[in-house]
Amino acid sequence: MTEHVIVTDDGGIRTIRINRPEKKNALTIAMYEAMVAALDGASTDDAVRCVLITGVPGAFTAGNDLSDFLAAAGGDSGFNRAALRFLPTLVGCNKPMVAAVSGVAVGIGTTMLLHCDFVVAGTDAMLSTPFVGLGLIPEAGSTLILPRLIGQRRAFELLVMGHPLNATHAREYGIANMVVDPQDVDAEALKAAREIAGLPAGAVAAARALMRGNQDELQLHIDQESRIFSERLRSPEAKAAFEAFFARKR
Ligand code: COA
Repeated sequence: MTEHVIVTDDGGIRTIRINRPEKKNALTIAMYEAMVAALDGASTDDAVRCVLITGVPGAFTAGNDLSDFLAAAGGDSGFNRAALRFLPTLVGCNKPMVAAVSGVAVGIGTTMLLHCDFVVAGTDAMLSTPFVGLGLIPEAGSTLILPRLIGQRRAFELLVMGHPLNATHAREYGIANMVVDPQDVDAEALKAAREIAGLPAGAVAAARALMRGNQDELQLHIDQESRIFSERLRSPEAKAAFEAFFARKR
């Protein structure tokens, strides 16, 4: 277990707080494993009626820890095992998920929002998917979901060109439900989670499953992205980009 993910249960709401502020909440293998356990547990525990995923002020998450990417580029398989379990677990979670986003939401910090049911963004939220600039490809089904949600051209700008998206645009694009003062992000998300948790659980589950529809296409797409992502991780382009990040302040 890691102290960088704090899981608490209260009033039918399981809160998963990403808590590594000194590294802008960059996700390590241990953090993925903790989130997988929390989401798996939420799916099977009838007492959990809603999941709330949040970060710290100024950082939802800076995405994958780039030192794990660098290790993966050198052949270490730990990252692939952890992240490849996280995505199907997130997509397959059978409880409604609310996200509270303050500050940076990079890479999987943005793409995981596409699987949440209600997203509260602070005015300071900045979503970005710099995968291609890192020599990688976008993941978590984003190459399927985003073009359908916002159109090919806007998705290209975000997913391929890596242009960041502020909170106002995230709401306009249908990625966030509401934009609030950064200090109110957690409280508003909790309010939404409480509202969901107060609804009849069986009806919520049935309606949500119908809205999500058949997930086979999405799962196949995620598998395909994951395969290409793993290949790209070992590419010289990716290795050079990871090294450049860590060399930037020296
Ligand atoms: N992996 C590993 N460490 C990371 C990280 C990441 N994804 N994101 C931030 N950090 C670390 C920094 O190295 C720095 O550590 P240090 O203080 O030991 O040098 C610390 O977190 C603070 O980051 P810093 O860059 O100083 O903060 P900032 O406010 O100037 O910028 C970001 C924040 C998120 C914009 C910037 O850190 C960034 O671009 N990170 C990389 C994001 C990324 O590419 N993620 C992968 C997506 S696929």
